Amino acid sequence: MGAYSDMYARWQADPQGFWAQAAEAIDWVAKPTAILDDSAKPIYRWFPGGTVNTAWNCLDRHVLAGRGDQDALIYDSPVTNIKTRFTYAQLLAKVAELAGALRLRGIEKGDRVIIYMPMVPEAVFAMLACARLGAIHSVVFGGFAAKELATRIDDAKPKAILSASCGVEPGRTVAYKPLLDEAIEIAQTKPGFCLILQRPMLEASLVAGRDFDWGKVVPGSAPADCVPVASTDPLYVLYTSGTTGIPKGVVRDNAGHMVALAWSMKHIYGIEPGEVWWAASDVGWVVGHSYIAYGPLLVGATSILYEGKPVGTPDAGAFWRVIAEYGVAALFCAPTAFRAIKKEDPEGKLVGQYDLAKFRTLFLAGERGDPDTIQWAERLLGVPVIDHWWQTESGWPMVANLVGVELLPVKYGSPSVPVPGYDIRVLDNDNKEVARGDIGSIVVKLPLAPGALPTLWHNDEGYIRSYLQDFPGYYKTGDAGYIDEDGYLYVMSRTDDIINVAGHRLSTGGMEEVLASHQAVAECAVIGVADALKGQVPIGFVVLKSGVNRPEAEIERELVKLVRDRIGPVAAFKTVTVVKRLPKTRSGKILRGTMRKIADSEAWTMPATIDDPVILDEIAENLRTVGYAKEAKGAA
Ligand code: COA
Ligand code: AMP
Repeated sequence: MGAYSDMYARWQADPQGFWAQAAEAIDWVAKPTAILDDSAKPIYRWFPGGTVNTAWNCLDRHVLAGRGDQDALIYDSPVTNIKTRFTYAQLLAKVAELAGALRLRGIEKGDRVIIYMPMVPEAVFAMLACARLGAIHSVVFGGFAAKELATRIDDAKPKAILSASCGVEPGRTVAYKPLLDEAIEIAQTKPGFCLILQRPMLEASLVAGRDFDWGKVVPGSAPADCVPVASTDPLYVLYTSGTTGIPKGVVRDNAGHMVALAWSMKHIYGIEPGEVWWAASDVGWVVGHSYIAYGPLLVGATSILYEGKPVGTPDAGAFWRVIAEYGVAALFCAPTAFRAIKKEDPEGKLVGQYDLAKFRTLFLAGERGDPDTIQWAERLLGVPVIDHWWQTESGWPMVANLVGVELLPVKYGSPSVPVPGYDIRVLDNDNKEVARGDIGSIVVKLPLAPGALPTLWHNDEGYIRSYLQDFPGYYKTGDAGYIDEDGYLYVMSRTDDIINVAGHRLSTGGMEEVLASHQAVAECAVIGVADALKGQVPIGFVVLKSGVNRPEAEIERELVKLVRDRIGPVAAFKTVTVVKRLPKTRSGKILRGTMRKIADSEAWTMPATIDDPVILDEIAENLRTVGYAKEAKGAA
């Protein structure tokens, strides 16, 4: 057997022994009394009885071990022309000082703190400062609008919100503070205080008594020490799109998370202490949590925090510049970033200007890694390009080609094989395993690995209903696909209404709720259609209420603005079309799947249960006017 098969078999034979050994990679205040607590099935908890601190493991212990002068975090911001390096000792000082300032204002273990910040180093300081105090952070992505932020405030009930005056997107400054003020206004729960980082590009006005200026109150604060927390105490809550407009609060615990991430850095990504690692994501997403902030620091690597885009900041050579400048060993990004680079510089001419000698591996995840993009990157960079599959809920890869263990042959279109900790199965609707090569629901046999969500925030029942109920004994990933003869997984689609726009996970149901709230709209549907750059983009169909006789173009413009204002620019909702009727089954279910196939010019069959087939012709006609359904591949 090869090294990967050996390791997977070792985990299968003794999962608890496997994780007990992995747990030696972190410092414990008190060792756990057991490895797995399965007394409250189907909810499992890893490393019960133990006591730890995540910030200690990310910072203090490395400084004590002599790593204090090594770079921990490199901030590179082409949008502001700022580059700053923080050694482990400097990062520890920044985090302890911020933790001190928070503690002074009443933040304690178990309190929630929302972090609504752009890609600045203070966002990482904030996460680690919360971890230091045992406070539970919840980072909200900056591209979300006030309403989305308000929903998260009401669920997390934070004692404090940490934010900045603005974000910087290419060509525009995004004022965060008005969005924060509006969100607090809408929310039922009001935070005790806000700490605002004033950025020089756009200073915000502060609300007296509620808002503090970060630059004035944090420097000089007495540093706070690490507060020991239980293994199973939450480190953070990260909200992710579910099947409605209400996001799910994914809980991450402290010990299981650390053990899993430290293990993954070495065995999946092949990163050694002291090496430079770059996850080109955002702190608002799970990739930013696991692989900008926590993972690299847990293993004593150097992490890059990049405030820029793959193209346009200033050009399609930006990624190569960063890799060369800092000697990056491995990069993790979404395939969409490479599609953007390929579009601007199809022959990859800009690579030639940089020395990529230290670069070993490119990792792609967040959406399907399309073979064209993977092969293009392979040719261009001459290194392994590794697609791997996971989700916010798992917190770290479930299926991957484990470069740090053994590089298996790459099969295009597949993220490869199960990671130890995850027993991946493909089931039919009767909970039975399908034959190899047959498509079904991708599920994971319980218990999930350490690091994966133990539950949803204050919502065990919602956790069970959303993930565990449909396939008893298994966790439902919401993805569909198949496993081939060699055990490689192929992820083909979602089984729910989630779409993936430029690696960002969004709910079409949430967008439908926004469209339906417009006074002119009688009913609506939103589907995700194929997009050469972003993978998928949403398009909306609305039926107007009878008697509405305003120009359709005017209503369409209002609807696009409404989604941008309510969900945020990240939804990339730019196309909506007024239709006379929506295609439905006789029982009234909207035929979204058929609409999507027509839009993508895929072959489709007339659903037997359709109410009125003519409507699909009308939909195809509408789609052509907005640039889709170019080739008619319809069935009679
Ligand atoms: N704050 C405020 N607005 C933001 C934002 C933030 N943090 N991040 C994105 N936005 C805005 C953008 O400005 C854009 O607004 P626009 O409609 O006015 O142009 C919109 O949200 C969509 O942003 P984005 O998805 O980044 O698309 P883009 O067209 O600006 O860039 C890519 C396209 C492919 C270059 C870009 O999507 C990319 O780099 N993707 C990487 C994906 C990624 O990191 N995924 C994380 C999971 S690994
Ligand atoms: P998120 O929770 O935002 O990380 O999104 C997770 C979802 O993105 C998964 O459930 C998949 O639908 C999709 N996804 C992530 N990585 C991959 C991949 N490598 N291949 C296919 N789909 C992926």
